[in-house]
Amino acid sequence: MYIGTTLTNYIIEAQRTIEGATGEFTGLLNDIAVACKKISDLVNKGDLVGILGTAGSENVQGEQQKKLDVISNEIFIEALAHNGHVAALASEEMDEIYHLPADYVRGKYLVLFDPLDGSSNIDVDVSVGTIFSILKAPPGVENPGTEDFLKPGVTQIAAGYCLYGPSTMMVLTTGSGVNMFTLDRDFGEFLLTHENVTIPEDTQEFAVNASNMRFWEPPVKRYIDECLAGKDGVRGKDFNMRWIASMVAEVHRILVRGGIFMYPSDSKLKAKGQDGKLRLMYEANPMSFIVEQANGMATNGRERIMTLTPQDIHQRVAVVLGSKNEVERLTSYHQA
Ligand code: AHG
Ligand code: MN
Ligand code: MN
Repeated sequence: MYIGTTLTNYIIEAQRTIEGATGEFTGLLNDIAVACKKISDLVNKGDLVGILGTAGSENVQGEQQKKLDVISNEIFIEALAHNGHVAALASEEMDEIYHLPADYVRGKYLVLFDPLDGSSNIDVDVSVGTIFSILKAPPGVENPGTEDFLKPGVTQIAAGYCLYGPSTMMVLTTGSGVNMFTLDRDFGEFLLTHENVTIPEDTQEFAVNASNMRFWEPPVKRYIDECLAGKDGVRGKDFNMRWIASMVAEVHRILVRGGIFMYPSDSKLKAKGQDGKLRLMYEANPMSFIVEQANGMATNGRERIMTLTPQDIHQRVAVVLGSKNEVERLTSYHQA
């Protein structure tokens, strides 16, 4: 028997490729892994430890917070703030960025995270996840501000997610491909199980919340109508549909077997002043980085998501991502 490649082994190797890296990056990814292991443990225990249900509060986006949204956020702060690897944090569940207390050692990274993605699924025992995006903090700045986070996705130095499904899996990119690690719950390590994952360029599977169909813009309606027409329509082949309502689980499926995922902008969201539902900085950007690193594509229907300049930490964006040829097709419909 042998141990295999642990996440820690892998990160140490990855760090060697980052110029000027000092071990802080390895430390940071270890902190993230610890937080995810703790959340995984709670998700797994569920009702036994009383973490299901709503917290009785709303987040900055006006959404009902689940108990586990709040707990996962606290776990991330506890795991990341103390160890001298980060300079500030931002999260879906915090209105403002989190500044480190004055006596904490400052590190050189900024982390943005969605502590629990797909949280509407937690009470019904369906997969949820955590998403994170890592940026470099501006050198020499004691307390980075919101403006230091508002950088396009192309400046991310690493991104990942942890999927709490039948297995707990950590999926990570540091800008040279995508690797997947499966948590061995008995000995508490993430072990490398899928190396250099690539998304097939073609697919016959799409994921969209079709209940919003009447609010969609014409290019999205056209694309889905053509998929639904299947063999009898212009596409000349049948399509399958999936919708889990956990972006982490959808992206994971796409990484494993291909597919296209979209949460397009629509007239209902626009009437609320939102351009899309998903959040640019801690959902769309990290997932786009992962998808592009796996040979897929990610746009807002018009432009590459990772080149958009954020105006706000909690900014929303339309998302189309996955198998390259399908994302290209839907994007071209927006230009027609
Ligand atoms: P979160 O639980 O972090 O708020 O994110 C949920 C997101 C995403 O994971 C999912 O794809 C989408 O919201 C589901 O939206 P609908 O409920 O509108 O289908
Ligand atoms: Mn989310
Ligand atoms: Mn969330």
